[in-house]
Amino acid sequence: MEVSDRAGELFELELFGDGIERRYRKLRPEVEGMPWGTFDTRPIRETALVIARKQWTLAAFQEHRTGIACAATLRALMECRAPLDLIGLAARFPLDELVHVELCARMAMELGGGTEVRHDPEQLILDPPPELPPLLRAGHMIVRFFCVGEALSIPLLHSTWKAARHPLPRAVLGRIVRDEAAHGTFGFAFLDWALPMLSEDDRTLLGEAADRAIRVISRQWDSIRSKRSAEYDESVGDALGWMQTDAYLELAARSMQSRVREPLLSRGIPLSA
Ligand SMILES: [Fe+2]
Ligand SMILES: [Fe+2]
Repeated sequence: MEVSDRAGELFELELFGDGIERRYRKLRPEVEGMPWGTFDTRPIRETALVIARKQWTLAAFQEHRTGIACAATLRALMECRAPLDLIGLAARFPLDELVHVELCARMAMELGGGTEVRHDPEQLILDPPPELPPLLRAGHMIVRFFCVGEALSIPLLHSTWKAARHPLPRAVLGRIVRDEAAHGTFGFAFLDWALPMLSEDDRTLLGEAADRAIRVISRQWDSIRSKRSAEYDESVGDALGWMQTDAYLELAARSMQSRVREPLLSRGIPLSA
């Protein structure tokens, strides 16, 4: 099959059920303990509800992508023989992200159902150049997925969680925030271990990888800024529990500086202005 044939695959989820689901539930019992079925959508305008369903579906899709990024990074960490305890910590991350996928998807269901997301399953993450040695393959993914992506998500999710009023999105976001705290600091712990083994050229390569990831995220913020004015509706606030406001974008820009750029620069990873 050509890559293009897969480009429009529908993003859908299912559970195996029975004993498999019971064992999965035992791993993360807090999911079933959340106040599912308590969200009254009647006060929310139909157009606002559609936006909220779309946002939560996209959030589930985003968590799915992050799960793939965590799994790919885990392989590279093993291949470069990173410290056992560091890998052990990262081994939990794919399961965390799977749980986040489920939580976001169930939030969309709570609001009336998921919306259509089409994607190419083979293009969800950008692999590092295959010719790099294992340590740099791991570093290439870690700076992009963890030092930029996950580090940035901590303050943004935390504020989104604080802004959520209804107990259900509060529980969902609270769970995600607790898990992400470990993801967001992980990348810098890896760098602290790897730095003595990296040459100037290696650091430049990692800086370029971080630059690319920063550019992608900056473009996403531009798109939030432009769409928000057209679509955003006050009545969506409760359903969305999402901070797509000027305050969110300001916090995002500040966090990019303090949580991403400064910690990278202080470790000698060069970034473009
Ligand atoms: Fe996540
Ligand atoms: Fe994460």
